[in-house]
Amino acid sequence: MRDLEILTETDKEALELPRTSVEENNNTGKRKLYIESYGCQMNFSDSEIVTSILQEGGYATTANFENADVILLNTCAIRENAEQKVRNRLNNFGYLKKKRPDLVVGVLGCMAERLKTKFLEEEKIVDVVAGPDAYRDLPNLLNEAEDGQKAINVFLSKEETYADISPVRLNSNGVTAFVSIMRGCDNMCSFCVVPFTRGRERSRDPYSIIKECQDLLDNGFKEVTLLGQNVDSYKWTSAELPSHKGEGSGGEVENVNFAQLLEKVALISPDLRIRFSTSHPKDITDEVLYTMKKYDNICKYIHLPAQSGNSRILKLMNRTYDREWYINRIDAIRNILGEDCGISQDMITGFCSETEEEHQDTLSLMEYVKYDYGYMFAYSERPGTPAAKKLADDIPADVKQKRLAEIIDLQLKLSLERNDRHVGKVQKVLVEGFSKRSEDFLQGRNDQNKVVIFPKENYKKGDYVMVEIQSCSTATLKGEAVKS
Ligand code: SAH
Ligand code: SF4
Ligand code: F3S
Repeated sequence: MRDLEILTETDKEALELPRTSVEENNNTGKRKLYIESYGCQMNFSDSEIVTSILQEGGYATTANFENADVILLNTCAIRENAEQKVRNRLNNFGYLKKKRPDLVVGVLGCMAERLKTKFLEEEKIVDVVAGPDAYRDLPNLLNEAEDGQKAINVFLSKEETYADISPVRLNSNGVTAFVSIMRGCDNMCSFCVVPFTRGRERSRDPYSIIKECQDLLDNGFKEVTLLGQNVDSYKWTSAELPSHKGEGSGGEVENVNFAQLLEKVALISPDLRIRFSTSHPKDITDEVLYTMKKYDNICKYIHLPAQSGNSRILKLMNRTYDREWYINRIDAIRNILGEDCGISQDMITGFCSETEEEHQDTLSLMEYVKYDYGYMFAYSERPGTPAAKKLADDIPADVKQKRLAEIIDLQLKLSLERNDRHVGKVQKVLVEGFSKRSEDFLQGRNDQNKVVIFPKENYKKGDYVMVEIQSCSTATLKGEAVKS
């Protein structure tokens, strides 16, 4: 779902560093909006929807918060440190607001939804609070705030998918884009705040998804990542359309599952690469795996969070699968898509009552799967979640950290092994831009989502280039373009 690097809790902070809107238009006279996003790709994708709604509402975006009339923070509540980061940032803006009392500060996203009116009580500088399903109401909420009132809408919807809104691509490289295919989550993993902050799961209609992907292709984009908290449970039925509701509507009812959606998107063009995230081990089907196999443009990479390698802990986490089930899904991936398919994980260390032996099961699962990379976290208790209500957060912080360090060390070793498999092979790379270190080199990704760096020559952003891999580190592959 995310970036290539193996992320520790601290590195993750780097990834979660705010990204700001950089679309700077000549919009003299319009009110200026500055938006910063934290958390997962869904939030970044939502910020693009928010920007679209507010541009329609007469705002222009700015990359400089000091010029802004409205500052919005799109927040994450997944771990305590994610929330702390937002509070620190609000403190910074507090100084600005003292100088400019007319500045409007709004908080969006998961932390807004979790804290609701408490936000207005706890953080005096906040004027507007809007949850993930309330973004259409933002123009009104901002108007109220500009009139000097506090404004809040944290209503969670069972239907909202923002299907009709064309996102304004922020920080875009012009090559890769996120497309949201569903919202919310109906799983109740006991540690997780997302079902409370994003509400019930709902799937966006396939027609608007395909149209958005086609528009991206028409505008020069070459890769889409289909986003949802649990993409494998994507399920849409035309019976939901107004024309099918009520008496005698007639017509065939069309049902679309995730494998079928993937196929529809793959058929748009062989030149459009498709990725998706996140898959859930309980729901990923062989049908999805065979669809991936059938289309070259569906990338052979699956992010399949395990959370733990121990069945007792998985039960306490309410993940609804056990170690054997997870291994069965890994075996299916290897059998259907082959050894080279990239697989990444999310793991949590020090979940309630986890013993040393159970932690060893996580390490042995990692050895079994040989993950290409991973996102690893120490358990952070979230208020209101089933685990916070029923289970004691009884693993001391230093033990959580020690276990975290062990799984990170193992993942680094596995990543190097997995990256080494590519050395000597020729890989198709989609160029995303210059390498971070030098404009003499380009950077892109191979099918397995690994960053590949190679000399620029005459290639450019958006090109597919066949690159012979010559060396690797834990995080990147290096090579040279092969002449055809
Ligand atoms: N929908 C995705 C995950 C979304 S949250 C899935 O089901 O896999 C991203 C990751 O954050 C989770 O996979 C989990 O590893 C981690 N996470 C979630 N809640 C957490 C908590 N309370 N403490 C530590 N890590 C957590
Ligand atoms: Fe959270 Fe579980 Fe839903 Fe993922 S599947 S968002 S971890 S409740
Ligand atoms: Fe964070 Fe909400 Fe995403 S809690 S991880 S921004 S769904």
